[in-house]
Amino acid sequence: MKQHVVVYKSLPGDLLERLGAEFNVTSFDGINAGNREQFIAALGTAHGMIGASLPITSDMLDAAPQLKIASTISVGVDNFDLDYFRKRGLMLAHTPGVLNEATADAIFALILASARRIVELAELVKAGKWTGSIGESLFGVNVHGKTLGMLGMGRIGSAVARRAHHGFGMKIIYHNTRPNPDAEKELAASYVSREELFRQADFVCPMLPLTPQTERTIGAQEFALMKRSAIFINASRGKIVDEAALIDALRQKTIYGAGLDVFEKEPLSADSPLLQLPNVVALPHIGSATHETRRAMAELAVQNLINGLRGAQPKHLAV
Ligand code: DGY
Repeated sequence: MKQHVVVYKSLPGDLLERLGAEFNVTSFDGINAGNREQFIAALGTAHGMIGASLPITSDMLDAAPQLKIASTISVGVDNFDLDYFRKRGLMLAHTPGVLNEATADAIFALILASARRIVELAELVKAGKWTGSIGESLFGVNVHGKTLGMLGMGRIGSAVARRAHHGFGMKIIYHNTRPNPDAEKELAASYVSREELFRQADFVCPMLPLTPQTERTIGAQEFALMKRSAIFINASRGKIVDEAALIDALRQKTIYGAGLDVFEKEPLSADSPLLQLPNVVALPHIGSATHETRRAMAELAVQNLINGLRGAQPKHLAV
C-alpha cells in the first residue's frame, strides 16, 4: 500500500509527478479558510506533508496520527513547533544552502535601494515629476566604503558580506553566536560586541532565525544605539524586531531609513504606518523568490520528503 503525502503549496508539475509515482498524493494550492477542513481531513491518513508559508499548528499535527515527516520549502522553520516534533519523534526537513545567493542579492538590492532612494526617485520619474536636475533634498548616501554590521554571520550573512567586501569595498563588522574564522580571513570581517555593532554600523543587517531567543531582539534600546545616519535592513524575519520601535525610530529620524523584506505580520497591512514613511523601502518577502531558487528549494524539499518516507536520512533535517 502506497504511503500518503499531502502537498499544501503548489509544486511544479514534474515534482508532483515524481511524488505521484511513489505515493498517493493530495495536493492543495495553498490553504485558506475555505479548504482548511479538507486539509485537516487529508492529514488524517498522511505519512508526509510538504509545503510552505503556513503555520503548522498542533491541531493539524494531532489530526495526522501516521505522520512521519514534514518537509518545508523554506530554510526557516518558525512555522513549526519544534518541541512538538521532538516529543512525537517526527522529522522536520528544510532547505538551507540553495537560497543563500538569491537572498543575499535581494538584501543587497534593499541596501542599494534604501541608500540611493531608488524606489522613491523611480516613482517620481513615473509620476512625470522629473522637471529638472534633482537637488540636494533628493540625494542619497554612499554605499561603497561604508561599514556593514551583520548580526548573524551564517550562510546567508556570509554571502551578503562577500558582496559588500568584494563588490563595494565595505568594512565588515559582525556579531554571531560564535566567531566565523572564514569570514574574518576572507572578508577581513571583525567580530564586535552586539552593542558595538549597533553603534558602528552604517548598515545594520540582522540575519537571524526566529526563535524564542531572537523574538523582538531588536527594539527601542538597539535603535537608540544606532547612528542617526544608519540604515536598517531586515530580510530574515519580521518578528525579530519590535516593529513599533522601528516605526518610532524612523519617524523620529533616530535612524536614516530602512529596507524591509519581512514584517511582524505578513502580508503587511495596507494601513501600516511603515507605508507612509518615505525613508522605508518595503518588499513582499521576496528574499528567495527567483524562478531558479524557488525551483531548487522545491526539488530539495521533495527529495527530503522522499528520503524520509523511504526510511533514509533526509539531507537537511531541522529536527
Ligand atoms: C525561507 O526560506 O525561510 C524564506 O524566508 C522563504 O520563506
